[in-house]
Amino acid sequence: MTIGIDLGTTYSAVAVVHEDGAPEILEGESGRLTPSVVFFDGIQPLVGLAAKNMAAVAPDSYVELVKRRMGTRYVAHSDENGKEYVPEEISAIILRHLADNARRHLGTDEKDVVVTVPAYFDDAARTATKDAAKIAGLHVRRLINEPTAAGIAYGITKNTKGTYLVFDLGGGTFDVTIMKVGDEGFEVVATGGNRALGGFDFDNLLMSHVNADVGAQGGPDLFDDGALQAALRRDCEEAKRRLTQLTRTSINTAADNRLFRTSVTRDEFEAMSAPLLRRTEDIAEEVLDEAGIAWSAVDGTLLVGGSTRMPMVAAMVERLSGSKPRSDANPDEVVAIGAALIAASLDAEQEGTRPQRTIRDVTSHGMGTIVQDAATQQPYNAVIIPKNSTIPCEFQDTFYTLIARQEHLDFEITEGDSAVVADVEVHHVDTLRLPPGLPEGAPIHITMAYDVDGTIHADILDVTNNRPLGDFHLPRPNNMSSEEVAAATVRLRSMPEEE
Ligand SMILES: Nc1ncnc2c1ncn2[C@@H]1O[C@H](COP(=O)(O)OP(=O)(O)OP(=O)(O)O)[C@@H](O)[C@H]1O
Ligand SMILES: [Mg+2]
Repeated sequence: MTIGIDLGTTYSAVAVVHEDGAPEILEGESGRLTPSVVFFDGIQPLVGLAAKNMAAVAPDSYVELVKRRMGTRYVAHSDENGKEYVPEEISAIILRHLADNARRHLGTDEKDVVVTVPAYFDDAARTATKDAAKIAGLHVRRLINEPTAAGIAYGITKNTKGTYLVFDLGGGTFDVTIMKVGDEGFEVVATGGNRALGGFDFDNLLMSHVNADVGAQGGPDLFDDGALQAALRRDCEEAKRRLTQLTRTSINTAADNRLFRTSVTRDEFEAMSAPLLRRTEDIAEEVLDEAGIAWSAVDGTLLVGGSTRMPMVAAMVERLSGSKPRSDANPDEVVAIGAALIAASLDAEQEGTRPQRTIRDVTSHGMGTIVQDAATQQPYNAVIIPKNSTIPCEFQDTFYTLIARQEHLDFEITEGDSAVVADVEVHHVDTLRLPPGLPEGAPIHITMAYDVDGTIHADILDVTNNRPLGDFHLPRPNNMSSEEVAAATVRLRSMPEEE
């Protein structure tokens, strides 16, 4: 039975679908949600609440928020022996913990998983997520976009139909997805988001507020001390949650053998949060624009992610859409439920027992290549696969050599929607040797394809001679090599499991 995992920036959840079709969140040592954090205690890595409780005690051995760094060569942790850990390895420790929890519940040795990722995760971040699972000894059957998973959970468990806007404000990321839910399946129309906007940023605002207040009371700068800062983060996240229920709360800070009390009202918190909320509004408007859909054509808004529990979020959505958002699903569990439902439909498809509902997702950014403008001789980004194309897809475009007898062609693949080269991610793929004697303006045909897993693939054809010039994948300098993945897998296996 394939396991569904929502690997969140701050909290993760695991779910499965039982024989009778009912999905269930599997509780672990940390409860229904497991903090996505790791603590290295010298013998074994701790995950979840046990690790979170150590943050203020030994901040240097504590690792959080690696999801924001997936697909980069960021050093997430280095241990006392100088061994460095990349984000994939930290995620692998968390994934192993989550999968072990599920296996204990199921009493099996299941290795197949469906893992969710933010819709706008790029190729490198998706590949990094799959590598993390591999290091944990798991096999990813499908990566699925988080808002899509949430929409599917609503569609299947709440019998929702129509055009929906999924507003997903989690711990570390923000996603907006517009989705059509019908009898035959689910179709994503448009998606957008910000990889670095979530509950964590609201915590930061409260932290700065408390720190300034403690300073005004003659206390120390709490950001100067790792342990004080970690305690401040914990206390502010808790205070933020209280402000969801209460209109006023206080935060007590112990420092310099004194106790400082800061009181915050919900109004004050909402005032300081206004710029963050404004950014979510702008992104939602942008995505609606791209979809060519007005708020009036949206049948409902689905709130996803723990941060949508803040009353200001529902109030803003109601103001924008003109109606109350749906709140009949648990916003921090619905993504994992969706992952489990997709896992179950993959299992059913494999066994040939049930017709699968179709799930059509879209690309979250354009993909293209760099070409020279014939008139200005300036390079620009030519988008070949436009943003919000239904996946899988294949697009073609023809470009022309600039001079007679051009010998080489630099082939780049870009990720991004702008024509301006500086605004997109550029991956140099290869320098191709062109056949001799091509005239000026010789057509070169580029085909780019994007498959269900988000893998990108390109073919280049010299039209003059009808000869293929090559077949390419996106280079991944910021991902681990297969040797590195293999070595990390062995290393993780040698790290004892907590228990
Ligand atoms: N009652 C509440 N009031 C305010 N914020 C809350 C509440 N409950 C949870 N949160 C916040 O929700 C966030 C966690 O949400 P969630 O578990 O959906 O995110 P995630 O999956 O970790 O992140 P992402 O989806 O961005 O990767 C945290 O910032 C947490 O503080
Ligand atoms: Mg999430």
